[in-house]
Amino acid sequence: MISKPFTARAHTNIALIKYWGKKDKQLILPMNSSLSLTLDRFYTDTEVYFDSDLKQDLFYLNDEKKDAAKVAHFMDLVRSKSELKAFAHIKSINHVPTTAGLASSASAYAALALAASRAAGMQLSLPELSRLARRGSGSASRSIYGGFVEWQRGHDDLSSFAVPIEENTDWNICMIAVVIDKARKKISSRVGMQRVVETSPFYPAWIKSAEHDLTAIKKAIKERNLKKVGEITEENAMKMHALNMSASPHFSYFESATIEVMHLVELLRSEGICCYYTLDAGPNVKILCSVEDSEEILRRLAVKFDKKQLLIAHPGPGVQLINKK
Ligand code: PMV
Repeated sequence: MISKPFTARAHTNIALIKYWGKKDKQLILPMNSSLSLTLDRFYTDTEVYFDSDLKQDLFYLNDEKKDAAKVAHFMDLVRSKSELKAFAHIKSINHVPTTAGLASSASAYAALALAASRAAGMQLSLPELSRLARRGSGSASRSIYGGFVEWQRGHDDLSSFAVPIEENTDWNICMIAVVIDKARKKISSRVGMQRVVETSPFYPAWIKSAEHDLTAIKKAIKERNLKKVGEITEENAMKMHALNMSASPHFSYFESATIEVMHLVELLRSEGICCYYTLDAGPNVKILCSVEDSEEILRRLAVKFDKKQLLIAHPGPGVQLINKK
């Protein structure tokens, strides 16, 4: 028996208010709620079909066979929710630099959640898809929706999922990703966030402050206040990275070029250009700005960085099926 194949496309999201710490490692329940912007430029296409002749799940990433252990764990969840017992063929094409702090796991698990659930014969609602994607990677819960998205932390498996804040935003903003290093990150987000929860003396302050930032940024988004959204975004990212530096043993994702970009953004700001940075579990910097200012910012970045390192993205859509087979 071979099931009908389904292919889904999901876009990455960049958190403006970060998820950094789990309350429940198995269910992937976060310590704090988070908020992100889904981007149009970076996405994953994933095809799934079940085949009763297979002895295990097979996983191909960008046409290369990969170890399927983590994906198989996720597929076990899909199988446990459906009637299917068969293993699956999973083929993903990543249009994101893999694990370089551009959140490829978010688009990967959001696309897998939709393709696998449909191939298994289930028609999950968007909140159900968000909950399923969350089990692969926390940030994937947010990539189910486009535009601005909030992942409400909840208190159990049923109550922890993302909700759209402004799916089809008409706000003329963009994010410039400065790709400093495409290599795999040295400390995975799983290890990094666990370490700060267990060892940073500032962790309780982070939770309080992140909830406060979330309320403030939702108001600023509604008011279309880019300065305010940018300030909250940048400060929230710096608080997350301060946790890393205060952990034991301490660690940091910053490289010298990361700091160079941060200084350039601050310089541009002092010249009156409204732009702000954010960073995730890697050295790459994402700059939030208006579409209007993006050309000048790119021009200034191009003095120090190769054009290939500069990628511009705009608000993108939620997860969708892309085959009609
Ligand atoms: O979803 P994960 O386990 O890859 O963790 C994502 C963590 C950050 O990207 C640093 C923050 C976030 O909210 O996306």
